[in-house]
Amino acid sequence: MDTFERIIYLREQLNRHNYNYYVLNTPEISDKEFDDMMAELIRLEKENPQYNDENSPSVRVGSDLSNNEFEHVRHEYPMLSLANTYSKDEVEEFYIRTKKALNEDFEICCEIKYDGVSISLIYEDGNLRRAITRGDGTFGDDVTANVRTIKSIPLKLRGNYPDRLEMRGEILMPWESFDKLNKEREENEEPLLANPRNAAAGTIKQQSSAIVAKRNLDSYLYYMLGDNLPADTHYDNLEAARQWGFKITDTIKLCRTLQEVFDYIDYWDTERKKLPVATDGIVLKVNSLAQQEELGFTAKTPKWAIAYKFQAEQALTRLNEVTYQVGRTGVITPVANLDPVLLSGTIVKRASLHNSEIIEKLDLHIGDMVYVEKGGEIIPKITSVEMSKRNPDGQKVEFIKVCPECGTPLVRIEGEAAHYCPNETGCAPQIKGKIEHFIMRKAMNIDGLGPETVEDFFDHGLIHNVADLYELTEEKIIGVERIAEKSAAKIIASINKSKEVGFEKVLFALGIKFVGETTAKRITEVLPDIDSIMSASFEQLTAINDVGERIAGSIIKFFRNPDNLDIVNRLRNHGLKMAIETSSEGKTDILKGKSIVISGTFELHSREEYKKIIEDNGGKNVSSISSKTSFILAGEGMGPSKQKKAEELNIPIVNEEEFNKMINI
Ligand code: IVH
Repeated sequence: MDTFERIIYLREQLNRHNYNYYVLNTPEISDKEFDDMMAELIRLEKENPQYNDENSPSVRVGSDLSNNEFEHVRHEYPMLSLANTYSKDEVEEFYIRTKKALNEDFEICCEIKYDGVSISLIYEDGNLRRAITRGDGTFGDDVTANVRTIKSIPLKLRGNYPDRLEMRGEILMPWESFDKLNKEREENEEPLLANPRNAAAGTIKQQSSAIVAKRNLDSYLYYMLGDNLPADTHYDNLEAARQWGFKITDTIKLCRTLQEVFDYIDYWDTERKKLPVATDGIVLKVNSLAQQEELGFTAKTPKWAIAYKFQAEQALTRLNEVTYQVGRTGVITPVANLDPVLLSGTIVKRASLHNSEIIEKLDLHIGDMVYVEKGGEIIPKITSVEMSKRNPDGQKVEFIKVCPECGTPLVRIEGEAAHYCPNETGCAPQIKGKIEHFIMRKAMNIDGLGPETVEDFFDHGLIHNVADLYELTEEKIIGVERIAEKSAAKIIASINKSKEVGFEKVLFALGIKFVGETTAKRITEVLPDIDSIMSASFEQLTAINDVGERIAGSIIKFFRNPDNLDIVNRLRNHGLKMAIETSSEGKTDILKGKSIVISGTFELHSREEYKKIIEDNGGKNVSSISSKTSFILAGEGMGPSKQKKAEELNIPIVNEEEFNKMINI
């Protein structure tokens, strides 16, 4: 056996043992034997870099090389979420609705709902090519290097898989690893992580994959997408995926009646507590893919699935005081301060009360014994008062009348539950909150700044609003709370870089009340520049998808305020994008009528960029080769099965340079 053959042999063996250990839980060799083989492989690969393979099992140990920024990539299929319910009545409604819509027999596939971070895995010719986080559902972060270290995720598939496929699933931090991590953090006096989901989310975004490798993440895959799926039901697809090496839960059950669904829910409500990973409900999916297609999707969720979430655990404790926080939009949030109590494994001292109506409804008195529970949110809430334990001297909780920060009398908008402090431009937490919102990753992404620096700059009188950020200079900030030259330069550079951020994010960053990320995007699709938004009528605004009267009213009010107009003008003068970039530039019809398959990896542009280039030039990007394929845009490492198919069907193969010449780039 020569060196190359030995490397191939070790990789195959290690892949197989990995699978036996991490997916099947039935190891065939000792840990020592495994480690010895791995050590040999790592040594041989180091000595013979010409044989490197990005999916060698040695990548499981991770690397200390920084991932730097994660590349944003577009999801081929948007990553949607699921409609949620906590009530069995609503499960029944879903069932009846489905039955009515289909008007024929159907099966429901019941699965455990895993509580981790969702991930999309792209395989080409059986090789893991990309792992992408959900992100905003349209674009996610490329976290492939980190995901390669998760041992239950196959790097190479086994058996008879399609050329290209996408598997979606959940990355999880098992309870055991979570407890260990929190113990370490406690020892290092670092803040504890709230739950395994947050821990998994933080881990998957680590810059060093060596750290990820040490955290022992696990995975369950639950959804297959692609053009060449092996079966026409969800269940059979998952069974095929299991054969290819994916970790698929064996808690799946096909149900033919509503009663069977309820029995499944009841069984797992208690049994799930024995599972090694966090779960928060049950997912019900219509099994037949044809029926799924018939049922379709809403804007956000598939109509063929629903998640039933388990009721959270409760604890009883004493209410000591209600304090009030002022948010960036001036909303006053009452917070209950409680006697510390253990709830689902964590100690709870505070609970959100949301607004005055909730306080009224609960009829809260200081000293009351109250039930707290953790819903989907991390912050627990009070659900009721134990009246039998009420102290007759306890004072009724009365909502405050003036802002606790600036003393301005609070206002309440007609028809709304929240109280606001109207002193938008003079109330410190509102000013700071607006700036913090503005710099957020989802907004202007000024990553050199954080909430503490914003606070320091504000306290030093350097910034009063978001436009002031662009008037900061290195000289002005050096020395503020020990900021040295190097970090000053970094801060100013990241502020300047934010001028490249797209207009839809700028609009979101302005912090207009009720205008969230998606709404901002929708608005810019119809009104593509700031001037048309500023001059839009109420009717024009409410005609936009997702924009109701409340949002329209808020937008109009925002742009009536001279302070805001001044800020927008200053931002414009500083060069921020105030219009969507419609690059009709670069768009042609050159590829009109052409169906193009992309295969392999490229040097000059990324795969995603090529997809866009194809679309911009009138072509259609398809994922699998058929007789209708016009040509294949092939990069490095196009798979042998694709090559064969292309030859059989006589489909031309075009390389990167030829393609670029074709469309003159
Ligand atoms: S199916 C289009 N199945 O729950 C439907 N999701 O609340 C794709 N999740 O985004 C999702 N376990 O992150 C599905 N067995 C399961 C799941 C599951 C956990 C997560 C997933 C999803 C979220 C929706």
